[in-house]
Amino acid sequence: MTFILELEHVVKRFGGLVATNDMTFAVYKGESLGLIGPNGAGKTTIFSLIMGEHKVDSGSIRLHGEELTGLPTHKRIRRGIARTYQVPRPFADMDVLANIEVGLMPDSLIEMLVSPFDHAEGRAIARSVGLAEADLHRDPAELSMGDLRKLELARTLATRPEVMLLDEVFAGLTSGEIAQISGLLKEKRQDGLTYVIVSHDLRSLEPLIDRAIAMTQGTFVCAGSYQEVMNDKAVRMAYLGH
Ligand SMILES: Nc1ncnc2c1ncn2[C@@H]1O[C@H](COP(=O)(O)OP(=O)(O)OP(=O)(O)O)[C@@H](O)[C@H]1O
Ligand SMILES: [Mg+2]
Repeated sequence: MTFILELEHVVKRFGGLVATNDMTFAVYKGESLGLIGPNGAGKTTIFSLIMGEHKVDSGSIRLHGEELTGLPTHKRIRRGIARTYQVPRPFADMDVLANIEVGLMPDSLIEMLVSPFDHAEGRAIARSVGLAEADLHRDPAELSMGDLRKLELARTLATRPEVMLLDEVFAGLTSGEIAQISGLLKEKRQDGLTYVIVSHDLRSLEPLIDRAIAMTQGTFVCAGSYQEVMNDKAVRMAYLGH
């Protein structure tokens, strides 16, 4: 098995707070990895560091063995990595379809001028996440939380990532919507997608992941199967206090 994404001795401080404390872990190609930890453990910060939205203070982050540190976010996206946001962040002045199409835009202006833009692909991605045709020309502000989460996924999928970082994709969703998104993630894995997923909804997370990594206070606690991690003493302390 080969690693697709590797973090080595990654440190990030916000003032006096060590949000990422010497984190080292790797993600196998094709894997679904759960990243778990209580509120404030530093899960979202790890995603922001991988995407280059925050700068690491020290350590290395590699995709396909190549260093990402120093690359701006858009170049990391081009290399095949993308994330969703815990708090959905659509562009407010564009309709739902246009939001998805931002991710489909070719890199160069020349490419854009020579190839006419095809709305079919954006529509197909919208359909694949379960967004209704009738919603495509709505303002994202009119969407329910469930549809906003689907839009987050669609925007991310539009960049054709090899690795997706999914931050609380189930928060605020009904059980039907959770089942729909879980089904979509399983399908995408069959197409070769690798993902790291953060979710407080552990029951929905469990059937989706091959392996889990637990962290607390910015620090690695343990890794293993979902059951192994949930039975770990230190994880139980961090989550349950006993
Ligand atoms: N931009 C920032 N500036 C200062 N402190 C930050 C910043 N982002 C995160 N932090 C702090 O870093 C720590 C880790 O936060 P992070 O959001 O990564 O945790 P999390 O595991 O995603 O938590 P949650 O489960 O609540 O989403 C917290 O103490 C948080 O307050
Ligand atoms: Mg978070």
